[in-house]
Amino acid sequence: MNTEPDRYAVIGNPIAHSRSPEIHQLFADQTGECIRYEKILAEPGGFEAAVRQFFDAGGRGLNVTLPFKGEAFEFAAKCTDLAVHAGAVNTLIAQDDGSCLGANTDGIGLLRDLKKTLRLSIQNKRLLILGAGGATRGILEPLLQEKPLALVIANRTPERGAALVEHFRALGPMQSCALDAIPDGPYDLIVHATSAALQDQELGLPDTLAGPGTCCYDLIYSDTPTPFMRWAKDQRVLQVTDGFGMLLEQAAESFYLWRGKRPDTAMACNYLRPP
Ligand code: ATR
Repeated sequence: MNTEPDRYAVIGNPIAHSRSPEIHQLFADQTGECIRYEKILAEPGGFEAAVRQFFDAGGRGLNVTLPFKGEAFEFAAKCTDLAVHAGAVNTLIAQDDGSCLGANTDGIGLLRDLKKTLRLSIQNKRLLILGAGGATRGILEPLLQEKPLALVIANRTPERGAALVEHFRALGPMQSCALDAIPDGPYDLIVHATSAALQDQELGLPDTLAGPGTCCYDLIYSDTPTPFMRWAKDQRVLQVTDGFGMLLEQAAESFYLWRGKRPDTAMACNYLRPP
């Protein structure tokens, strides 16, 4: 009998601080699955070779993080509809014929966290998304499927926001604008999806976007409040959160696609992030 654990990994650059290994190992313990989960650092230009090597050596699945989600989409032989529309893959699943299926669980992860943890329904709500890069592409379709009243994409480079509106236009009411020309709020939900904080830069947001009922959600997870979370607290909004819940939920969906079992994310959150 084969008692070797099935191999999984997260691949990205940088990767040292990824919490995916401890999350998936906990999920495996919860569900009684026998897996080994590693981190793989890929150099720019080295993604495809690293992925091939992993699967050729018997790997069963990969999580893909920045900056390789677009390359993972190109790599996958077949993709789920959500991944095709996003043009980005964060989960690769080895198939019996030796090929790989690509999926994107980011948007599902965000929605589950909004519903379960924050008890926020998107239907008929006004949404503002800050940023128009890969992170935004991954969450737009699942958000629009929930039928918001309006969705505004604000981006430093307005043309990128306009291109996303064009791409997803059929799915719901959307508009785009520059970061310094955002229509007044209050919005029900503001999602921060830029990488400005990685360069330690502030967005310079106005005070006209949030009210007491606004929920502010940063897709980044961090042990200390991010610049966007600090801005949100200054606006006196009641709900401000980082992306740790989304990280857990997208991981749980990947785990389900690989193993067919659903981990308990609430328990995992209590364990991995004590108050
Ligand atoms: P990701 O996959 O993380 O979304 P990306 O595709 O490079 O990465 O997108 C980064 C996003 O952060 C973009 O919306 C980018 O704005 P531009 O389209 O104008 O480049 C935004 N961003 C990065 N640095 C920023 C900054 N200093 N101020 C405002 N927006 C910033």
